Amino acid sequence: MDDGDGPAVPGGALVTPTGDALVLFGATGDLAAKKLFPALFELERHGILDVPVVGVARSSRDDGALREYAAASVRKADPGADGATLDRLLARLSLVSGDYQDPSTFDALRGALGTARAPVHYLAIPPSLFGRAVTGLQAAGLADNARVVMEKPFGRDLASARELNETVHSVFPETSVFRIDHYLGKESVENLLVCRFANTLLEPVWSRQHVAGVQITMSESFGVEGRGAFYDGVGAVRDVVQNHLLQVLALAAMEPPVGADADALRNEKVKVLSAVVPPGPEDIVRGQYAGYLDEAGVAAGSTVETYAALRLSIDSWRWAGVPFLIRAGKALSTTALELVVELRSPPTLLFAGADAHVPSGNLLRFRLGTGDRLGVTIQAKRPGATLQTRPVELEVDFEPVAEERHEPYERLLADALAGDPRRFARQDTLEQAWRVVEPALRDDRPPEQYARGSDGPQGAQRLAPGGWHAPLGRR
Ligand code: BG6
Repeated sequence: MDDGDGPAVPGGALVTPTGDALVLFGATGDLAAKKLFPALFELERHGILDVPVVGVARSSRDDGALREYAAASVRKADPGADGATLDRLLARLSLVSGDYQDPSTFDALRGALGTARAPVHYLAIPPSLFGRAVTGLQAAGLADNARVVMEKPFGRDLASARELNETVHSVFPETSVFRIDHYLGKESVENLLVCRFANTLLEPVWSRQHVAGVQITMSESFGVEGRGAFYDGVGAVRDVVQNHLLQVLALAAMEPPVGADADALRNEKVKVLSAVVPPGPEDIVRGQYAGYLDEAGVAAGSTVETYAALRLSIDSWRWAGVPFLIRAGKALSTTALELVVELRSPPTLLFAGADAHVPSGNLLRFRLGTGDRLGVTIQAKRPGATLQTRPVELEVDFEPVAEERHEPYERLLADALAGDPRRFARQDTLEQAWRVVEPALRDDRPPEQYARGSDGPQGAQRLAPGGWHAPLGRR
């Protein structure tokens, strides 16, 4: 009997690039330093990076300065980074400096791209500059046969996301647009998809017949950490709920895709998100941690939320009547990303005395953060003369059984170069996600204050009459 690896499911191995140049707009910015250069270094280390990398930046620097910047970024992320690999990466780099409004910037880029015929343009720049960048690329003839990769946030609400999509589509067809949500590049999040659809054990219980409720928690023990100015223009709903949390919800709730290709997967995501009923005011709690107003870059009296909890329902045969509670917050007691599926309690109190409380239903706890695990809480016999239950946790720790894992940005850059759209957000999914969070964006009640290091605002308790499942956090 073959008990080895199963067939390929969405999310295979890293693939060989087919783009013939990578253009990094915002090459001297924060994202490039923290994520993109370290990811490119890893691709170089694995022999996957095979193209020139042309940085574009508004600050006037030269190739040497970009190389220094990239080297410092890589060494910061990995102080033991191999020198020869780093040299190979640096040799690929060059820089074009100039304003995105100035056509000569794009002419210079065309010169730097030389014979490249299928460039991949990565926009690691503020979204307000996306429009200028894509029209500049088109005017310089750099959009033909090219792909564009865009960082979030993609729009500020449904109307602006649609408008931005129109601008982008006037230059690039949807098949050439790769919208980043780095949660889609996380091995642990993709594991949720695989666990659901590669194990028949789960499918029979995965519906309103057996599920009492679903909770998704993204909890961070740190505050805005130097990103106050950016964060204050965004807030928790735009920063992580509209994208990361709704992507996790879609993976948890969608129907099985009819195939492993990108569209099959994304068709199911858009279907389930279309069935999500937008929350009413009673289903929304916004909070702000005490001390947020003192963070650098935060406006005086800001009412931007650093915590958001939503109670959603999904109007479908599978999920009608099952509450989906999602919450995300900064400056909380722990850092964790968890999906908890709570099964219904047993129908009769077979193993409880008259005074005993009802044993709670089984819990499936997907711990999707660092050190990911899957836990199942079962009720077992409490030792002693009487037949009473107690919860016992069965747990799989994926880390020891996983071979080398790749960081989200490494996987996403490789996918973008290869032209593989499976781990990127499609326009319709993204617009549905904006539709779902729209009432929370319009909520003008002042956010409820909560203490740093707490579990968030008290008011969030009313969304979960049975209580929130406290995340177990990183180990
Ligand atoms: C980013 C948000 O998209 O995700 C940050 O802008 C957040 O505010 C981060 O901290 C969390 O990512 P991860 O991978 O650490 O869960």
